[in-house]
Amino acid sequence: MPRLKEGVMNLVKVLKIGGSILTDKNRSSIARKKEIKRVAEEIAQSPEALILVHGAGSFGHVIAKKYGLPERFNPEGLRATHQSVIKLNELVVQALSEAGADPMPIHPFSCMVLKDGKIESFALEPIVEMVKRGLMPVLHGDVAMDITRGSGIVSGDQLVTHMAKTMTAKIVAIGTNVDGVIVQGKILSKISMKELPSIDIELGGGSGIDVTGGMRGKLLELLDLADAGIESVIFNACRKGQIIKALEGESVGTIVRRAT
Ligand code: IPE
Repeated sequence: MPRLKEGVMNLVKVLKIGGSILTDKNRSSIARKKEIKRVAEEIAQSPEALILVHGAGSFGHVIAKKYGLPERFNPEGLRATHQSVIKLNELVVQALSEAGADPMPIHPFSCMVLKDGKIESFALEPIVEMVKRGLMPVLHGDVAMDITRGSGIVSGDQLVTHMAKTMTAKIVAIGTNVDGVIVQGKILSKISMKELPSIDIELGGGSGIDVTGGMRGKLLELLDLADAGIESVIFNACRKGQIIKALEGESVGTIVRRAT
């Protein structure tokens, strides 16, 4: 039986790797296999107490949009989108295990419900047990049942903030394909809710088809988390070595912090 790692829940790290890194976001279901391998190898170097969430990229957004999700309840669309994101998850889990980590797939569709697009309940016990036994849960953006709307989409960013809040994560890192929050060509080293109104219009970021709000949606989630007392960092996971730095708590991009 694997030994229970005492105190590990005080050291939880939550990392998200955006779908735009792992897939070609404009073309349906095209994985970037080399990038998946590189990302997996970096993550496998710092696996302690880590929960990984990856985006859906073109395995999710393109198909969801085709079926009119999340606005339209469409069983076929739900199934097709879920089955597609599972395929990307399998590729990530496989690459991580080849890189020497002990990843375990978790499919959000089966263990949570939304209410008006927000996570209402989420069975975290299996994830906690995995972390305690040295396994790495690997979750992904997914479709989900919504108790008011029927169906919805749970973004990787929502998963990250929910878990980080519930488990009081020590490190929360969001890997994207940009260097952080960029305003007038400059990377902000820090941002809080206070600064948001003045820069709101300039938040573009992300590329390709996106049904979960791009950089703006991401930032709103993280600002909310910051106001609950948990800082996070948005960084460029396409740059070699940045993932390890982020996991070690070194400065790599824009820190999202509580308004002072
Ligand atoms: C989206 O997840 C999930 C679906 C479209 C089914 P994310 O919002 O986390 O994915 P990325 O990172 O933008 O690709």
